[in-house]
Amino acid sequence: MTGERTIALLVAAGSGTRAGGGVPKQYAIVAGRPMIAHAYRALADHPAIDDVLVVIGAGQEALVRAAIGDAATVTGGATRRESVARGLAAAGDAARVLVHDAARPFLPASVIDRVLAALVGEEGAVPAVAGADTLSRADGEIVPRAGLYRVQTPQGFRRDALARAHADWPDDEEATDDAQMVRRLGGTVVLVQGDAMLDKVTYPEDFATAEARVAWETRSATGFDVHRLEDGEELWLGGVLVPHTQGLSGHSDADVALHALTDALLGTIAAGDIGTHFPPSDPQWRGAASDQFLAHAASLIAERGGRIDFVDLTIICEAPKIGPHRAAMVERIAAILGIRPDRVSLKATTTERLGFTGRGEGIAAQATATISLPGQPR
Ligand code: CTP
Ligand code: MG
Repeated sequence: MTGERTIALLVAAGSGTRAGGGVPKQYAIVAGRPMIAHAYRALADHPAIDDVLVVIGAGQEALVRAAIGDAATVTGGATRRESVARGLAAAGDAARVLVHDAARPFLPASVIDRVLAALVGEEGAVPAVAGADTLSRADGEIVPRAGLYRVQTPQGFRRDALARAHADWPDDEEATDDAQMVRRLGGTVVLVQGDAMLDKVTYPEDFATAEARVAWETRSATGFDVHRLEDGEELWLGGVLVPHTQGLSGHSDADVALHALTDALLGTIAAGDIGTHFPPSDPQWRGAASDQFLAHAASLIAERGGRIDFVDLTIICEAPKIGPHRAAMVERIAAILGIRPDRVSLKATTTERLGFTGRGEGIAAQATATISLPGQPR
């Protein structure tokens, strides 16, 4: 039956001891984002899930806000079992509950579909993957593989069954997942097909395995801009104040090179153009330094987990000569974007005294930006 109210508990209250690192593993960066952000998105975006409640460790409020913004949270306990119990107690009424480990970042919607579909007439359903390797004990004794599975999350339950299992569970015993608790108390839990993408990040080397599953998508886009040269204006170009007889006029500081580059970067994420974000009609941008436009475009890419691979700029004018300022412009642009200077190319050309640039009436600039965005895992 569809349409039943369904909540997801994203358990993230662990300390990631085995994974090590400076922050608990669920906040470490995987595929351009804090690990927890991937599974959170997958749960929040699934049409059958009404609410996601994140179970966090005490004192992790700032970490979780930085990772996923204003999500609903509740503080977990000393063990995973306690964390789930606290999440259950805090979650509103629902017919079905999904419990998912934040340490399993890549959660295909198809697995959620299978788990929920199996919950009709069953108290629980868990994704599981059959192993292909020979299983052996340390002493060499072979363990028959048939019927053995690696159990993953998200695990789905009728809410009543899960709540009863947690209420009746002995306090002095631990359980590593919820399915074993529901089963122990007589509930039925079926297995559905899991996915290798769901393997848990547990040890330091698991980060590289998770990272390798992500398909990065390369995107390029261009930008173009022109501003008029006038007397009595400063000439800001490539983020640098260039001594010249005239300067560029426009609503902001009219840095034509940074504007072209901003548009190229916005283009890579199909986020409109500079006017979309900083309307010329808005007085607050009068005379504004253009480095903030560029920094904003870079921050939008960073929010999507993207990285800027390369930018290339051509400034088109008769004068001033760009060569003497090239190194300073490259340094400045690299600093604004937070990338290495060898990822910034800056060129200049004249138009052989032809056209408006040739007559010195204005300066044009064109830019290309190439970025990588984390796509769906392979
Ligand atoms: N978890 C939790 N509350 C706990 C312990 C674990 O919510 N008291 C969560 C973890 O954040 C993780 C999931 O349960 O998303 C699976 O646990 P595990 O992989 O063991 O993570 P940690 O306990 O953080 O790692 P470790 O055991 O290495 O310390
Ligand atoms: Mg643990």
